[in-house]
Amino acid sequence: MVDNPRTPPIITAMEEKEVEVKAPAQEKVPDESPKENLIPVFIMGKRFFVPESFTIITAMEYVGFQFKNAVGCREGFCGACATIYRLEGDYKLRTGLACQTVVEPNMHLAQIPFTPAVKAVYDISKLKPELVSIQRYYPEVFRCVACNSCTKACPQEIEVMDYIQAVKRGDLETAADLSFDCIMCGLCAVRCPAEMVQFNIALLARRLTGRYLLPRSHHLEKRLAEQREGSYEKDIEELMGLSRKGLTKRYTERDLDFEVF
Ligand code: SF4
Ligand code: SF4
Ligand code: FES
Repeated sequence: MVDNPRTPPIITAMEEKEVEVKAPAQEKVPDESPKENLIPVFIMGKRFFVPESFTIITAMEYVGFQFKNAVGCREGFCGACATIYRLEGDYKLRTGLACQTVVEPNMHLAQIPFTPAVKAVYDISKLKPELVSIQRYYPEVFRCVACNSCTKACPQEIEVMDYIQAVKRGDLETAADLSFDCIMCGLCAVRCPAEMVQFNIALLARRLTGRYLLPRSHHLEKRLAEQREGSYEKDIEELMGLSRKGLTKRYTERDLDFEVF
């Protein structure tokens, strides 16, 4: 029995993510002739001119901002750079990854702090792959009003609302499948009127699915057992003794005719 399954209650989506940007001292219009068109954007309300092909992050760095955090992979995988922006003449608050979203003329940019997100603490080996497990740790999932704001906010184009509905039906496999590309950026939670943290709910659904519902990988278990028994120690020692040239030769001549499971 866990008295408070959410102890400690607050763990963030990007735990160490804090927006700490060093702003340039003044508006900067680069002197050198640009190799491509410069367009105006507003960063924290101030106008700058940046190359039109730049992403939000590169544009902000171009004019002198320094990111000390709130940025990671720069390739759309880590979810650290979740941001909001507005387009000219459009009231909507849009969401995106700052490393993937290309600037547009008169775009209004701001950086947001990390998304505080409730994340339950549980022992997966003591849970069952059933709705009751989700219900116990994330009862707020039943507050979903099917507004679809989460899906619209997702930079990964994940059907967030659909995986939440799957969770509510107890269909954990579908929830796991639909949420597989989640990068935990937190933007769905930011927009949710029901105040739930969709990505952590999906994480639990994927964990339960992986542990209990998917078929066991027998060839992997066999290979791990072989490793534990030391079956490959001799081969590893031989590889460790090779020169760089020898390693390269071995790599390029390796047998690629193996069975893919
Ligand atoms: S599901 Fe939520 S946390 Fe995951 S990528 Fe989409 S918006 Fe980000
Ligand atoms: S934003 Fe929240 S309430 Fe709206 S559909 Fe998504 S999970 Fe449900
Ligand atoms: S910096 Fe990793 S997703 Fe943008």
